[in-house]
Amino acid sequence: MSGLFITFEGPEGAGKSTNLQHVAESLRSAGCDPLLTREPGGTPIAEQIRDLLLANHAEQMNDDAELLLMFAARAQHLNQVIRPALAAGRVVISDRFTDATYAYQGGGRGIDVRRIADLETWVQGDLRPDLTLLFDVPVEVGLARAKARSALDRFEQEERAFFDGVRNTYLARAADAPARYRVIDGSGSLKSVQADLQPIIKWILERWHA
Ligand SMILES: Nc1ncnc2c1ncn2[C@@H]1O[C@H](COP(=O)(O)OP(=O)(O)O)[C@@H](O)[C@H]1O
Ligand SMILES: [Mg+2]
Repeated sequence: MSGLFITFEGPEGAGKSTNLQHVAESLRSAGCDPLLTREPGGTPIAEQIRDLLLANHAEQMNDDAELLLMFAARAQHLNQVIRPALAAGRVVISDRFTDATYAYQGGGRGIDVRRIADLETWVQGDLRPDLTLLFDVPVEVGLARAKARSALDRFEQEERAFFDGVRNTYLARAADAPARYRVIDGSGSLKSVQADLQPIIKWILERWHA
């Protein structure tokens, strides 16, 4: 038995967390009980690594240290939560996963994509999401929503060029592997975004029943 691994990606304020709850509710009303999780985090140890990654520190965090902490958290999360749930046949939905590492540490910080790919293979073997929903919004829209929501974390305080790199990397990865990605325009109303999610919810349910 093997489940279905779905990831939600996009910058801050794109609507990942809001729409993840919507998708989960739609799945539950069809009798499917997805496991909802997030990165960085998803286990007590990985959530401690998340706190370290998102907090504003007096000391600057080295880019390689940041990348390695992301994958340290991911190794813990994969082995404690994601792999067992997939092995049990569950639908697993994660709010961010490795595409975010390519986007933020690669596109944002400028770390060589080959280093990220090496760590991806090391930590994940050949495990990749079955489906990735990329919520795309203009940088200003996402940041304005994030600012309205809460105090800014270490990533949210980055400059414009960082977020342009994040967005462009996400879009390039989706364009390179269109079979795995669905790009959703996150800038419209929540109602229009949820209408765009309907065929995707149907897609998930078809595979879950199969
Ligand atoms: N399509 C939308 N239109 C207007 N506001 C939205 C939309 N999607 C999300 N929001 C609001 O923007 C904020 C950030 O959304 P959230 O789902 O937390 O984004 P993310 O998880 O991608 O950072 C929330 O306050 C949410 O209610
Ligand atoms: Mg969120």
